[in-house]
Amino acid sequence: MIKKIYEIQSTDELAILVGVDLRSEKQFLTMEDSLEELSLLAKTAGLEICCETTQRLEKPNPETLIGGGKVDEIKILLDETGAKICVFDIELNPRHQRELEKKLGENIRVLDRTALILDIFAQHAKTREGILQVELAQYEYRLPRLTRAWTHLARQAGGASGRSGSTGGVGLRGPGETQLEVDRREINTRISALKKDLEKVREHRLRHRVQRKRSRIPIVSLVGYTNAGKSTLLNQISGADIYTADQLFATLDPTTRRVELPAGEQILITDTVGFIQKLPTQLVAAFRATLEEISESDLLIHVVDINHPNALAQWKAVQNTLTEINADHIPVITALNKIDLLPDPDNAIDTLKSFQNSVAISANTRFGLPELLESIETNLFKNFIPIDITLPYTEGNLLSQIHDLGMVELIEHNRKGTHVRARIPGRLVASFKPFLKSGDVIDFGSEEVESES
Ligand code: GTP
Repeated sequence: MIKKIYEIQSTDELAILVGVDLRSEKQFLTMEDSLEELSLLAKTAGLEICCETTQRLEKPNPETLIGGGKVDEIKILLDETGAKICVFDIELNPRHQRELEKKLGENIRVLDRTALILDIFAQHAKTREGILQVELAQYEYRLPRLTRAWTHLARQAGGASGRSGSTGGVGLRGPGETQLEVDRREINTRISALKKDLEKVREHRLRHRVQRKRSRIPIVSLVGYTNAGKSTLLNQISGADIYTADQLFATLDPTTRRVELPAGEQILITDTVGFIQKLPTQLVAAFRATLEEISESDLLIHVVDINHPNALAQWKAVQNTLTEINADHIPVITALNKIDLLPDPDNAIDTLKSFQNSVAISANTRFGLPELLESIETNLFKNFIPIDITLPYTEGNLLSQIHDLGMVELIEHNRKGTHVRARIPGRLVASFKPFLKSGDVIDFGSEEVESES
């Protein structure tokens, strides 16, 4: 069934979108909403959509993923519209991709959501690490798809496109078109070289990370769905000048800024890559180091575009990725952003109630930013518990926890062990109870509680 015909407005490459609802796949968005998102991705990648079609499937067709009738329908659509690109809203395995290309015609490029996202990342990566990471992800993605037909089409696409802003066709941009002509072995060699280069860049960054940790300035990471407003928020609270745009994945490379909280405490806030449902596995793997930084933060601010019709599904997709990258144990403040766009801001207040620890803000108008900063302060500093203990030398693990998660004020070694005065997150206090002397006083926020041991 053809769902939608678009009015053609530009001279960009024409493409048809294909939505596939596979019952066995975990979905955050409905097929229609996911297609809407795919059309935004396609536009960001420089394509013009002429129409879209959909199919619901109990199980995939082993050859072409979609059924034979649907393939025929798409062929007719391609003929009628003159489109030469067909984008599937699902990751196609190499076999599906090859069979579809065979059936749809020599001059048709079959792409999937992953190829589009990789292409956008390739356009937007700016730092050396970002560029290397995307390049690696692109090669990993292409390697199993590298067939004679694919390289042939790639060359054709590169030569034929010639449109402004295009450097060789969607999904084929980035690592250099000549690379598509090299064989599998050479690509493998390139992958190894990229991994080595990345290692070197990462060693350098690791040194920075260690320094940052030693300085014990708390690190707060901004996370959220792409286009939620993370960069705008960091610009507003730190006076940074990060590129922001109403497009997907405008910023990929982590940017860290020092921010002073109302009571004068210093923190570091990092803005990093946005998430999206069905984030390509190659990207998650290639960006692992960037994503790991998130998992080492003291606090996360999850920025949600409350005005988006799929705000809740986007929130869930982000939470899911946080679990994937082992960052789901970190305390989170949910910042419901863009409330200036709501016809009835009271809705935001109602929505706030469904999230724990949330603040309604508008990064654009600065509404709610003082409350957000106060909440950061409370979460990082006020909810920290001061401890003054002597840990036996056998308790190296506990000492590391204080270093990693707390803020050390004094440390000295004596005959009995390591004497530490520090502030630690409340959730850790229980592990230290055996070492608290009777009479030690722990300050649980406003209450003062006598230690029991
Ligand atoms: P990615 O780089 O894709 O991860 O996006 P991001 O989350 O960093 O979003 P960014 O800050 O680039 O903002 C995306 C768009 O939303 C831009 O056009 C911003 O101007 C707009 N925006 C951000 N915050 C607000 C807000 O509070 N109100 C309104 N109306 N627009 C906002």
